[in-house]
Amino acid sequence: MKILPGNRRIGILLSGRGSNFKAIADHIDSKELDAEIGVVVSNNESAPGLEDARRRGFNSVYLNPKDVSREDFDSRAVEILRESGVGIVCLAGFMQILTPVLINAFPLRILNIHPSLLPSFPGLNAQEQALEHGVKLSGCTVHFVNESLDGGPIICQASVPVYGEDSPEALSDRILVEEHRLYSIAIGLVLSGCCEIEGRRIRIHD
Ligand code: GRF
Repeated sequence: MKILPGNRRIGILLSGRGSNFKAIADHIDSKELDAEIGVVVSNNESAPGLEDARRRGFNSVYLNPKDVSREDFDSRAVEILRESGVGIVCLAGFMQILTPVLINAFPLRILNIHPSLLPSFPGLNAQEQALEHGVKLSGCTVHFVNESLDGGPIICQASVPVYGEDSPEALSDRILVEEHRLYSIAIGLVLSGCCEIEGRRIRIHD
């Protein structure tokens, strides 16, 4: 099945530092990525990424996750994303598991970046997991979001070496350089209309 290009307006969901969001915004500014940011939503009022989005003048929304069910949070998020005319949603360090309410509102339109070569080391602390396991290569993965944690179809991956003396911070920093490059490439691929999905496999055509 062909993945249609859809509209190029991105909704970003983040919870923290927001360096992936900034990299996407920078790639848009430098015209390396033909897209626009429609809204930045955070479930953390003091997320540096949200502050940065405000400073850059983006439509930025704090959604309070307290005292609401995850489903209610997600249906409010869907409303905001729709009101903002978003065609694609990018999770950029969003530390909350999505419910079907949000996942099903944007089928094959929600992307996530994870700091490991999935399916190895899903979940939290992927870099520590990789070091403890003793792998010699790690990296990052951009994938579509489905209901399994970090388990959706893989769009693209980038690898980095793991060195014997690596700390979790050193490995995270090396992976992050690739994350910042890879996420915009993946968004561009999805928006290009060149992607096809068959089972779990994403095929990219010229
Ligand atoms: C990144 O390592 C990303 O892969 C993971 O969460 C981290 C977010 O970092 N999902 P940032 O907030 O984008 O700087």
